Amino acid sequence: MSSIAQQMMHNRLFSQVYERLWRPTFTRLFSLGGSGTADFDKALTAYLSRPGERLMLDVACGPGNYTRRFAEGLTGEGRCIGIDYSPSMLEQAARTNTTDRTSYIRADAHAMPFPDNTFDTVTCLAALYLIPDPLPVIDELVRVTRPGGEVVIFTSVATDLVALPGVRSIAEMSGYRIFGKHEIVDRLDSAGADHVEQTITGQGQYVLAVKPS
Ligand SMILES: C[S@@+](CC[C@H](N)C(=O)[O-])C[C@H]1O[C@@H](n2cnc3c(N)ncnc32)[C@H](O)[C@@H]1O
Repeated sequence: MSSIAQQMMHNRLFSQVYERLWRPTFTRLFSLGGSGTADFDKALTAYLSRPGERLMLDVACGPGNYTRRFAEGLTGEGRCIGIDYSPSMLEQAARTNTTDRTSYIRADAHAMPFPDNTFDTVTCLAALYLIPDPLPVIDELVRVTRPGGEVVIFTSVATDLVALPGVRSIAEMSGYRIFGKHEIVDRLDSAGADHVEQTITGQGQYVLAVKPS
């Protein structure tokens, strides 16, 4: 049976309020009062939407909130493709976050319909913690990235707060996985990524890595 969190991702109303209501609230929760996650998020978005002719992939794109922002900075033939397996999220993406430089495809992040070494940048934000078998998805992110290209992940991480009694079990009961401090970095390493950099902000972690040329 799918978790509460997975069921929410398939709910039409949730898809409609996700970008304006849920995601900003969740980003604040990740910062837990501080501005760490929100600030890093802004800086990362600015970095990823820098001008260029890149081909980008936004995995588990939800309603396309980041897909569109990344695409906005691109130039020339640059495009950002968003994939997600929730029809209601993709309907919302098509309605609200479509531009000349975006495309949306329904696909499972475990088996993406792209050849090896395709994308200049591959992002997977706020999604791995909802996926029941997330580590093979990291292998897929690296597989479809071109040599010299970058992989960018934002997800959960075990912190002191998570060690408080009951916190982990409540999170896990609702289908929200909390990754060990080294789990994501180690998997990127074993998938062959290089220059793996982890930044922990509040209750979340950003991990950037490069696929060797
Ligand atoms: C919380 S949303 C994240 C949306 C956006 N990336 C963001 O950062 O706001 C998580 C998304 O992951 C998608 N998802 C979960 N498991 C997936 C899978 N196996 N393949 C593709 N998408 C998946 C859900 O449908 C949902 O849209």
